[in-house]
Amino acid sequence: MNPLNHVAIIMDGNGRWGLKNKKSRNAGHKAGLKTVEKIIKESLKNKVKHLTLYAFSTENWKRPKKEINFLFNLLENFLQNRINELHKQDIKLKIIGVKNFSSKLNKLLNSSEKKTSKNKKLQINLALNYGSKFELINAFKDLHKNKDKISEKNFSKYLQTKNIPDPDILIRTGNTKRLSNFLLWQLAYAEIFFEKKLWPDFNERDYNKIIKNFRKIKRNFGNI
Ligand code: IPE
Ligand code: IPE
Ligand code: MG
Repeated sequence: MNPLNHVAIIMDGNGRWGLKNKKSRNAGHKAGLKTVEKIIKESLKNKVKHLTLYAFSTENWKRPKKEINFLFNLLENFLQNRINELHKQDIKLKIIGVKNFSSKLNKLLNSSEKKTSKNKKLQINLALNYGSKFELINAFKDLHKNKDKISEKNFSKYLQTKNIPDPDILIRTGNTKRLSNFLLWQLAYAEIFFEKKLWPDFNERDYNKIIKNFRKIKRNFGNI
């Protein structure tokens, strides 16, 4: 049985779900947040140590302003209402990506990270304004600036995922098979599960099924 430390998820399909069920993409984002809560709970039950959630990519700024504002308001409300509860559950929040949002949201993100920084049970890495190519370019620059020896280990130190083990599982919902600039370095040996369901329809059973299947996979890492 494979040990499971880290699950990374590309939470895709909110917009399509919203249009289909409520005639608005934003309604899909709201519904998607309920799935986030379910998956956090289920991750605790499964003793997952790291849950990385792709919430907003560097490319998502191309979307209409109305949708972007809705997404960040949703996040702001979620943190305001839920951070104490997450803290009580011994959950640590870490943002990966560049925090260049409104000063109110930046402050809230920083204070949420600080408040939960000593927590141990589960680390949620929230990928916000995250892009893997941007992350890699910056890591190269920093490595060069510090005149560090080029090695995998040194390079990893300059990534935003420093101190986070590589994902064991990548899940992408929403019936699309691509990585969309997510953790290109870190996913080198992840087991990948593409899910037909849209993110708001994804549930505990789907998640547990994936974990169960993952446990049985023969992971070679190049060996036989
Ligand atoms: C993913 O759902 C969530 C974000 C990118 C914020 P989408 O909004 O991409 O949903 P679809 O893919 O358009 O259905
Ligand atoms: C990936 O989904 C980003 C997030 C889930 C946050 P997108 O819906 O933005 O990806 P593309 O543009 O379809 O590849
Ligand atoms: Mg999408």
